[in-house]
Amino acid sequence: MDSSEIRDKWDARHAEAEGLGSQARVLADNLHLLPTAGKALDLACGRGANAILLAEAGLEVDAWDQSSVAIQRLSQAAEEAKLGINCSVRDVVSQPPAADSYDVIVVAHFLDRSLSGPISQALKTGGLLYYQTFTRARVSEAGPSNPAMRLADNELLHMFSALHPRIYREELLLGDTSQGWRDLAMLVAQKQLISQ
Ligand SMILES: C[S@@+](CC[C@H](N)C(=O)[O-])C[C@H]1O[C@@H](n2cnc3c(N)ncnc32)[C@H](O)[C@@H]1O
Repeated sequence: MDSSEIRDKWDARHAEAEGLGSQARVLADNLHLLPTAGKALDLACGRGANAILLAEAGLEVDAWDQSSVAIQRLSQAAEEAKLGINCSVRDVVSQPPAADSYDVIVVAHFLDRSLSGPISQALKTGGLLYYQTFTRARVSEAGPSNPAMRLADNELLHMFSALHPRIYREELLLGDTSQGWRDLAMLVAQKQLISQ
């Protein structure tokens, strides 16, 4: 599929889907780590459940996705909720965030390995990355079927080795796979303060 076919596929999915999508647990379970003010980016935001959470937490939020349908739906939801989210149709691979521009970046269910450097650089000193996406080890059919679009064992830690991990969770197929948090890895990592 070329890039316009991928965009069309996502436009169709976002047009059919209900609501804003689900909040990523990496963010919803760790809201207490957020700063009380500052700039946040929901990168490849989809219909923007995480952007809404960030705005409700008092942050100034940018939300970017290549799908105009997703961005249109998020803009409408933000307006209805009276939340000032800066929503943009943007290809995040050809136009990644600028260096030193965000206090918080959230990436959920999206993987483009070429962005690990630009994302790390886009955080301000002390800034936080919240990242959650699918792993190759899986117990369900959720997520992409192409293994290249899923994380290898510990891959998020390697991709963001320039940052300091604060929370990491990946359970693979260990133990009783009917329990726990499966199919996904989550990372909260910080761009270290220079004096620490
Ligand atoms: C599985 S959805 C995840 C959406 C949202 N982050 C969530 O967790 O609900 C993946 C999103 O990535 C977007 N996407 C894929 N490639 C992109 C690119 N190059 N630039 C911007 N968005 C992209 C798609 O349009 C889609 O909305």
